[in-house]
Amino acid sequence: MNADTTRPTPAAPASPSDGSPIPANRLRGKDLVGIAELSVEEITLILDTALAMKEISSRPIKKVPALRGKTVVNLFFEASTRTRTSFEIAEKRLSADTLNIAASTSSVVKGETLADTVHNIEAMSPDLLVVRHSSSGSCHFLSRICRAGVINAGDGMHEHPTQALLDAFTIRERKGRLAGLKVAICGDLLHSRVLRSNLLLLTKMGADVWLCGPPTLIPAGFAQSGVHVTSSVDEAVEGADAVMMLRIQLERMLGGFFPSLREYFNVFGMTQDRVRRAKPDVLIMHPGPMNRGVEISSDVADGPYSVILDQVANGVAVRMAILYLLSGGAEHEAVA
Ligand code: CP
Repeated sequence: MNADTTRPTPAAPASPSDGSPIPANRLRGKDLVGIAELSVEEITLILDTALAMKEISSRPIKKVPALRGKTVVNLFFEASTRTRTSFEIAEKRLSADTLNIAASTSSVVKGETLADTVHNIEAMSPDLLVVRHSSSGSCHFLSRICRAGVINAGDGMHEHPTQALLDAFTIRERKGRLAGLKVAICGDLLHSRVLRSNLLLLTKMGADVWLCGPPTLIPAGFAQSGVHVTSSVDEAVEGADAVMMLRIQLERMLGGFFPSLREYFNVFGMTQDRVRRAKPDVLIMHPGPMNRGVEISSDVADGPYSVILDQVANGVAVRMAILYLLSGGAEHEAVA
């Protein structure tokens, strides 16, 4: 994360809804490139601030002036529904001026480099850049060359930090804690940036993480990472407090990692029978987009344990919190 002394001085961040004080905002003027760079205290600060942002989002008038006068540019070089939309809604709720740039409508299609594209956008003085890119490490690269704050909205197979933060917020909202919970993460582990951010976040926060997928989709080294790794869905789901299903990322696969989608579903798909092995109040999660009938059956995705749409809703509050904290909080007025 880059610290930039030219960035704004913050006021105190929002208070959590239980009224307890939030520690000083150590995120002001920084980038959010990955969970790897966040401390437990910084993760807790984001989750607590998101509680206040969720309260704002529940009001009839959902707009507050916290980011009035700030400009946020959303630069999406890869497809997105949830992340791009929720960042834009979060920015508008905080009264920022927002701009959306998609790769297909930018001069990238004429051969302009990522660095030149971003330098040209920076010439127009944005305060924050929200970036999604297919290359792992692209956000680290931009954080080194940009004056504006950089928020990683998913970079290749590296990290998707705001997804992991909204996942943690959703679990904590339902279970009251993260520490000590059994969280099973199942599916295409190899290609998943959501997995990498969740693995970092959940282990930092003391959760008991189980990873499950076909041996061909388990990255080398994960077995030594201190978490449980298995190719048995039944073992991973047994007694789980939360089950996070990951999408099979066919677009990132060059070879055959499993014989067929039908066989994948039979062996690794989340079905009602498999959900019964988990705790009676298990949370079924998926970052989206879902492949119904491949990694998850429709009756599980739409069933009583599913919090998949809660994850999407919480994405707005969590992204409001991140935008607010990185931009320094409200300089002259309270968030509410
Ligand atoms: N979860 C997620 O990143 O979804 P999108 O690709 O639709 O943004």
